[in-house]
Amino acid sequence: MGIPIDRVLLAPSILSADFGRLAEEVAAAEAAGADWIHVDVMDGRFVPNLTIGPVVIRAIRKSTRLPLDVHLMMVEPEKYFEAFAEAGADGLSIHIEACDHAHRALQHIKNLHMRAGVVVNPQTSEEAIRYCLPVADLVLVMSVNPGFGGQSFLPEVLPKVAAIREWIDASQRPIYLEIDGGIGEETAGRAVAAGARVLVAGSAVFTKPDYKAAIGAIRKAADGALPGRT
Ligand code: DX5
Ligand code: ZN
Repeated sequence: MGIPIDRVLLAPSILSADFGRLAEEVAAAEAAGADWIHVDVMDGRFVPNLTIGPVVIRAIRKSTRLPLDVHLMMVEPEKYFEAFAEAGADGLSIHIEACDHAHRALQHIKNLHMRAGVVVNPQTSEEAIRYCLPVADLVLVMSVNPGFGGQSFLPEVLPKVAAIREWIDASQRPIYLEIDGGIGEETAGRAVAAGARVLVAGSAVFTKPDYKAAIGAIRKAADGALPGRT
């Protein structure tokens, strides 16, 4: 399946969901119109927080048919690629800051038949991932410092999104451009106008009483900012 050009994909992050009812929360996000489920893996070393690993991903896999978009905020992620593949991840994204051999690691992910993503923190220049683009299926630009949900969007990353969008378009390869952190109804339009086409949203979905209304509002703002819609 190719990358849609007429709509933006929404990937609710379960970090802000009720972990005591995770299966229901994931099913509810799917019913509310999510395109992917974003899963944040944190190791307490690369980021100052701990979350979940392959065991929980295996459980989530049973609750939804949507692609599981797994964001690895961990050092030495390559040690666990097979475990995440076996647990049912559809895509793995690794931080360029956490991986000395990101180019090789991305090829490793692809060899395991998963979407290979490379992530840049707010302070990291787009140049850091430039030579990974030929082996990347996805680039994720962090619009907060990773580790926690509910932080404020950092608009200073928007020029980086625009620069990477130009590279992707020039490459003519199907590469998703995703943004993660502080995305909601208020910020989605700016992210899409800069070139993002997959929006991660945690607190803007899972802290709201009506997930369908929350996803619908973000989708409206996002799709409205696509080129040719203004
Ligand atoms: C932050 C995580 C995000 C987080 C986003 O480190 O990578 O996916 O869940 O949360 P919000 O959308 O609340 O900023
Ligand atoms: Zn994330």
